[in-house]
Amino acid sequence: MAHAKPRMTVIDTDPGIDDAIGILLALASPEFNIVGITTVAGNIGIETTTRNACRLLAFAGREDIPVFQGAAAPLDRAGPEPLGLHGEDGIGAVALPDPMRPHETQHAVEWLASFLLDQPAGSVDMLALGPLTNLARLVLEKPEAARRIGRIVAMGGAIHEHGNVGPRSEFNLWADPEAAAVILGSGVPLVLVPLDVTRRVRATRELASRLLNSGQPKAQMVAHLVQAYFTSPTAQDSRPLHDPCVMLFALSPELFQCEDLELSVSVARDEKAGELAIMAEGKILVRVAMRVDAQAVLELLTRQLTAPWEGYSGRG
Ligand code: RIB
Ligand code: CA
Repeated sequence: MAHAKPRMTVIDTDPGIDDAIGILLALASPEFNIVGITTVAGNIGIETTTRNACRLLAFAGREDIPVFQGAAAPLDRAGPEPLGLHGEDGIGAVALPDPMRPHETQHAVEWLASFLLDQPAGSVDMLALGPLTNLARLVLEKPEAARRIGRIVAMGGAIHEHGNVGPRSEFNLWADPEAAAVILGSGVPLVLVPLDVTRRVRATRELASRLLNSGQPKAQMVAHLVQAYFTSPTAQDSRPLHDPCVMLFALSPELFQCEDLELSVSVARDEKAGELAIMAEGKILVRVAMRVDAQAVLELLTRQLTAPWEGYSGRG
């Protein structure tokens, strides 16, 4: 089937093992034209998340894609301590090459604004995989540029699902709830992919071995990342693929069931930070993915990663 014109896409990310899987999935998918990666502190500090983004592009042979370093801390609170889940290097000690191209000197928010103003309104989508600090700063500091975003698809929050920081708070929104509040109230078209669906899309050792046996470098690297997930202190028999669900939604939204909700987010100074509440009146609705055909999206992930594709010249 002929592909539609690849969609101009920016990935905003705090790699992070699951971010890395999502980035490699996007790079393996001809449906995306990844025009840039912007980094944010989250899973680990900004220097490391930025270095990991550059390393992933070096592995994929995609030094054509620029990386722009973004926010080192949330809008209005101290940043989170590094999550042990992703290891000291933020990527589970998986053997990625050193960066081939250093990150750009321009700040992520400055570049995002200039790029969006240069492109036709609505022609660029954002896939947000970490705290929403960069995007919130764009809305606050460059609203004329933010209004030109096609849509934001963001991993974050928990609606009916229990949290992974506090009882009802999810890491990305907990880390910078002020930024989440800005994005929820901005009116920029937003799709939220919360723990309610990401916890159902789980990587298993069987998936890792299938990817390893594919002979495709990008699939094999994802297998190594999944295996690194299993060595984490909280190892279980499967691990949730939180961030890759953002790419999977962008690729096949029909595999998700969504509800349009008006949401408010707590900016408390405790574990309640980032908690979402559904509001009665619907002023600014957010499309929220509430259910997913987990088997189908895992099959889609496998197909995208194991398909030979000329647009990928991985060194791995
Ligand atoms: O709660 C899951 C989110 O927090 C993911 O984006 C993961 O990478 C961490 O940043
Ligand atoms: Ca992330």
